[in-house]
Amino acid sequence: KPATPIAIDGPAASGKGTLARRVAEHLGFDWLDTGLLYRAVALSVLDRGLDPAQAATILNLRMLGDPRLRGDEIAQGASKVAAIPAVRAALLAYQRGFAERPPGGKGAVLDGRDVGTVVCPSAPVKLFVTADVGIRAQRRLSELLSRGLATTYAAVLEDLQQRDARDSQRAVAPLRPAEDALMLDTSALDADQALAKALDLIQQKS
Ligand code: C5P
Repeated sequence: KPATPIAIDGPAASGKGTLARRVAEHLGFDWLDTGLLYRAVALSVLDRGLDPAQAATILNLRMLGDPRLRGDEIAQGASKVAAIPAVRAALLAYQRGFAERPPGGKGAVLDGRDVGTVVCPSAPVKLFVTADVGIRAQRRLSELLSRGLATTYAAVLEDLQQRDARDSQRAVAPLRPAEDALMLDTSALDADQALAKALDLIQQKS
């Protein structure tokens, strides 16, 4: 079994979430989608008018199953609250605790934007997943439509481009590959091929 935690970062809709879930399933590890934490903070702000930093401090983990967290409106809100240092600081301990003491006790896979750079800088395996933005938009469109959320290709593309720009340009924990991250471009890969490639890279590191 590879050493853990395994950090998987990348831009929106790069395929990192599906990949992280499947890597965790394959290895019998626990998976944490760290983007859901930022989405849950955004939902509390929109729903209850809380201040983002306060919402992050009192975040209720039961909210992570809320289907509304998947939509584009919440994604935009998430990328806005994610630029606030106090919000990031409030979510750090939970993410590190999960990485170091995963609930199943075997190992952890975390996916997000700053897992390899900030949350788990000494993770033994770091992947940075990318894909062409048009391909990412097409994939996200299919995902949202299949969940019954009404949207268009143009709206999805705009959401991705805005979030990529905001996430890469923010002062705190910007989206970028860690120096020791292995790059994985999924533009020409389906989910099975991306999994095989990721398991290969993880094996090489172990
Ligand atoms: O990964 P997902 O698209 O669900 O993330 C939503 C937003 O949360 C991102 O656009 C990003 O701004 C923020 N995020 C972050 N750091 C993470 C995970 C997500 O800033 N580790």
